[in-house]
Amino acid sequence: MNILVIGGGGREHAIIQKLKEDSRTEKIYALPGSGGIAADAECHPVAATDIPAIVSFAEEHSIDLAVVAPDDPLVLGAADALREAGILCFGPQKNAAAIEGSKVFAKNLMKKYGIPTAAYETFDHMDKALSYVETCPLPTVVKADGLALGKGVLICETRDAAREAVKAMMQDRIFGASGARIVIEEFLTGPEVSVLSFTDGETLVPMVPSMDHKRALDGDKGLNTGGMGTIAPNPFYTAEVAQQCMETIFLPTIRAMKAEGRPFSGCLYFGLMLTPDGPKVIEYNCRFGDPETQVVLPLLESSLLEIMLAVSKGTLAETEVKFSEKSACCVILASKGYPQHYEKGYPITLPETGPGERIYIAGAALKDGHLVSNGGRVLGAAAVADSLPGAVKAAYALADRIHFENAFCRRDIGQKALAALGGEQ
Ligand code: AMP
Ligand code: GLY
Repeated sequence: MNILVIGGGGREHAIIQKLKEDSRTEKIYALPGSGGIAADAECHPVAATDIPAIVSFAEEHSIDLAVVAPDDPLVLGAADALREAGILCFGPQKNAAAIEGSKVFAKNLMKKYGIPTAAYETFDHMDKALSYVETCPLPTVVKADGLALGKGVLICETRDAAREAVKAMMQDRIFGASGARIVIEEFLTGPEVSVLSFTDGETLVPMVPSMDHKRALDGDKGLNTGGMGTIAPNPFYTAEVAQQCMETIFLPTIRAMKAEGRPFSGCLYFGLMLTPDGPKVIEYNCRFGDPETQVVLPLLESSLLEIMLAVSKGTLAETEVKFSEKSACCVILASKGYPQHYEKGYPITLPETGPGERIYIAGAALKDGHLVSNGGRVLGAAAVADSLPGAVKAAYALADRIHFENAFCRRDIGQKALAALGGEQ
């Protein structure tokens, strides 16, 4: 089969490497891919948001399955356009991708269908938002309605900070048009869990639960980033919590989307917080998480190609989705200064990888045949092992064999999970 993957980050690299394991995969194209992905797929310089060019490419290259991985093309309707051109596509249609594309939509959906989430108010006018923050409970959480590269959430401890956040989003438009509407919501506490799921709109199968580490520095200090590392499975997510989530969150969400005339097909990502009052939804994403995918897919024992075909055709109920009992850890190597200012163009030296080790390239380009850094998050060093402590140790051992100038990583990925496992360390 000829497969087309849209996107070019570490997540897409992990998807491509997994799809290659199926013997039916003949050729994989990536738009735009990256210098690192070029080792596993044929990359072409077409932007992930250039929908007409993506559709033409798919038609010209006899694509049997297109996988739209990033949020922006999904929110812009890439999956709809591919399907209209008769191409089988993994990824939600535009009106279902709104579950990530608009936080106001997602919050209203949860309220309407009784899905547990933080209490909230939405605002179109800055004056009303400013008067609300004069009396709301603190801390409070201010969120831009639209996509903001995962940065559109500001947690405010004081009224001053909340006023600043509202003005920054609605007046200064620091997140552009995404701040035209905002959500102000209750601050929740508890361990966070990312649950990615496969769903064809009727059947939903959760993947192994994972934990992201969003802050740039050790001890959850520093700025929010796209994600500095992940582990799976997440030990806070017990079988009992899993059942509760299935009954109160996962199935109600796909039923709600169907009832709204927005059936969701693809990977639905639940960002959850396990609060003292039970699991609640922090956010939905309409796609695989990055870098969650880099720990979840290495643990998938079934064929990703088979599952993606089943999701796209609506036959997930008849398809096996099996995960291994092992654990995985992914440590992101970033360029010094990320998520703010950082330099690009440092040559990268990659080691040979052993069993259970994988390197997922996130931001790198080929220059004169050599891989050089080309983004803030440069790559992920991932490892699978029998236990979580083993996976964490192996991922760091791999990360320490990878070199580029000004590289940095968090040294505490997985520590919270290991502490939760207590005696098993
Ligand atoms: P989001 O982009 O919605 O996932 O938010 C980014 C991060 O902000 C989350 O991973 C949480 O750590 C934090 N966050 C978002 N909403 C809340 C909330 N209501 N209470 C506490 N923390 C939150
Ligand atoms: N790792 C968080 C996300 O993909 O949104």
